[in-house]
Amino acid sequence: MATDALSVSGLDIYYGQSQVVHQLSMGLRDGRVLALLGRNGAGKSTTLNTFAGLHRARSGGIKLAGRPVERMSPEGIARAGMRLVPQGRRIFPSLSVLENLQVAEQAAAKSGGRQAWNLERVYATFGRLKERARQRAGTLSGGEQQMLAIGRALMGNPRVLLLDEPSEGLAPMIVAEVAQAIKTLKADRLSIVLVEQNFNLALEVADDVVVLNTGRVVHAGSADSVRAEPELATRHLGVF
Ligand SMILES: Nc1ncnc2c1ncn2[C@@H]1O[C@H](COP(=O)(O)OP(=O)(O)OP(=O)(O)O)[C@@H](O)[C@H]1O
Ligand SMILES: [Mg+2]
Repeated sequence: MATDALSVSGLDIYYGQSQVVHQLSMGLRDGRVLALLGRNGAGKSTTLNTFAGLHRARSGGIKLAGRPVERMSPEGIARAGMRLVPQGRRIFPSLSVLENLQVAEQAAAKSGGRQAWNLERVYATFGRLKERARQRAGTLSGGEQQMLAIGRALMGNPRVLLLDEPSEGLAPMIVAEVAQAIKTLKADRLSIVLVEQNFNLALEVADDVVVLNTGRVVHAGSADSVRAEPELATRHLGVF
């Protein structure tokens, strides 16, 4: 049996006494996009942060290409090939686009490993970033900042990319650009977990869908299975 890019079993996640994710199991196959959907507060960011090692699950396992990572540090997990682009995009606003990418490149070089991604390749994927290489990142549009945040993650040569609401706060035209970027990365065989409130964007790019409702998986299946069952969306996602 082929090893999943990411394989998660029986995750229980708490904040103090309060359990926010219950027995989450899911698998992400190589080169696929899995959309993790759910209403506000469903536990999506908590789940991604736990995958990335920023928060510890109380129990359960997380395997990256077959290797257990649930006890590793965030840096170790990033080096092992899983990178998070957090909700709200973390970039250095006072540095230029180029400098932001260089900082990420230096950090990746220090940790060794294969250098599949470099500046040229990021620029080839996001032409807009190349045009704005010398511009201060804080003055980029929301969509451009999102592309820069993804570009910085790519510089770390991930096998699995975790995207937390990349379309949040973006105008529809820019959302279309983000969708295009995700499709390009998928064509490049990257494996992606995409957290989205934008239901249409998620279904446009995803192969597989997991729906969370208050920390519990209420649906897991193909994107087609969700399209075929509009009732799911109204019940668990608040989409009408
Ligand atoms: N640091 C924290 N301490 C305590 N509770 C938290 C913390 N972070 C999140 N929570 C709670 O955990 C639950 C899940 O939050 P989470 O941020 O994972 O949801 P989400 O699905 O990402 O929501 P959104 O769509 O609004 O981003 C919520 O009830 C939230 O209030
Ligand atoms: Mg969130």
